[in-house]
Amino acid sequence: MISGLFCLCDWPKKYFHILLEFLNRQITIVGNYFIMQEYIVVEQSLGLQGTADLVGAKNAVLVIMTSLLLTAGKSTLTNVPASNDVFNMILLLEALGAQVLFNEDEHTLIVDTVSVNKWHVSPDIMKKMRASVLAMGPLLARFGHAELAVPGGCLLGARPIDYHLKNFEKMGVSIAMVGDELHTSCSQLSARRIVLEYPSVGATENIMMAATLAQGTTTIINAALEPEVFDLIEVLQKMGAHITVNAPATIIIEGVQELHPISHAIIPDRLEAGTLLIATAVTGGKIVLPQARADHLDLVLYKLDEMGHSIDIGQNNVGITLRATQAPKAVSFKTTPYPGFPTDLQAPMMVAQCLAEGTSVIEETVFENRLLHVSELQKMGAIIGVKDNKATVKGVGQLLSSAVAATDIRASCALVLAGMAAHGGTTMMSNTHHFKRGYEALDIKLNTLGARIRFVEE
Ligand code: EPZ
Repeated sequence: MISGLFCLCDWPKKYFHILLEFLNRQITIVGNYFIMQEYIVVEQSLGLQGTADLVGAKNAVLVIMTSLLLTAGKSTLTNVPASNDVFNMILLLEALGAQVLFNEDEHTLIVDTVSVNKWHVSPDIMKKMRASVLAMGPLLARFGHAELAVPGGCLLGARPIDYHLKNFEKMGVSIAMVGDELHTSCSQLSARRIVLEYPSVGATENIMMAATLAQGTTTIINAALEPEVFDLIEVLQKMGAHITVNAPATIIIEGVQELHPISHAIIPDRLEAGTLLIATAVTGGKIVLPQARADHLDLVLYKLDEMGHSIDIGQNNVGITLRATQAPKAVSFKTTPYPGFPTDLQAPMMVAQCLAEGTSVIEETVFENRLLHVSELQKMGAIIGVKDNKATVKGVGQLLSSAVAATDIRASCALVLAGMAAHGGTTMMSNTHHFKRGYEALDIKLNTLGARIRFVEE
């Protein structure tokens, strides 16, 4: 009903998405009126079968969109997913003065940053997603100023940005808290030898982007080297940045005078690929992912193989086929920075362990609070014990449909996968905005492979 109400207006589509997301969240009109909430309803599905394309990686496109602030001109990004986080990042760029055109059907984003003339981002935009903080480095490099509200923590934990801030200070940035906004400024960014106490993805990306226009050569020791970081490095090098990567985990950035606009295709989303592979594993089917980069998923493929699923890899590590075993064995794993097991696939992989033979121990080492999906899986009959950041999962024959609540983007996927394998009716998941933030129509993709997933409002 809400969708119908607004589709008559001639709203620019991107604002329509954002508005719809807001309206479709918890719309409570108090009193004798009605409470409307959107749910994802998942029915048990047979084994997924078929071939699926991949969208561009959310955790690459968001940071690459902020990197365009380093240039003054028109850049073109392709393979851009039409997910809510991308629409939110478009709002951020437009708030700074950029002109943005997004052709969702063609997944092509054109961003003209010539008219960018602001460096303040309002709290309502900053709070939508953690990635907003990645505008700080480019704004400091281009304007010498960035005024951003502190990005919200979230259910994963405090998610501080101390690694970002203390290293920007080393580079000559002064930082002041004004209300709940961080006002940062510097006359000239200075190159430094930066040592990260933890290979933080965001801190690596923010510092690297700032360093591209700093005076001198910046070295980042103990840098994050996720595939999404390398996609950003490729974009920065296309812009004219001088960046080299050395072992062990060292990124060297030689500052230049200016950077120019680029064209770039976003890498396929390894996390969507991993989610589709695990969805096939838990439903007992067969899937072909022609664009998937197996070299971005080594540990995930290793663990799926250890469970007994058969996996074929295409030439040059491009293309993955998975045939699920009907008798999966439980495997233990722990999440670590790349190339270890990715924290963003921990929740979906936990579902696979719930349905496997045996007991597994899953250790979450990246975030301090990323086991909130355990209580939701327990509602579905999973047998999981949690102590500190370790979950001990005892495989059960089947999960049972239930009402559950998503707690973050990746947990929302895990619960959809659990619903696809659950017996006894339909699984209803609330907090659907998490699911829409991280993916472009993953429900439709899963349904074309045999799942039965739909959005309803009640
Ligand atoms: C990026 O978040 C991703 N987000 C996350 O994906 C991903 O889980 C994470 O990297 C780890 O791979 C995007 O790229 C937009 P971190 P980021 O800095 O950069 C602590 C998803 O679902 N830390 O590597 O925020 C932090 O609290 C999301 O797509 C500090 O203590 O992650 C965490 O415990 C979730 N101080 C650990 O480091 C800091 O200044 C790793 O964080 C920064 C981080």
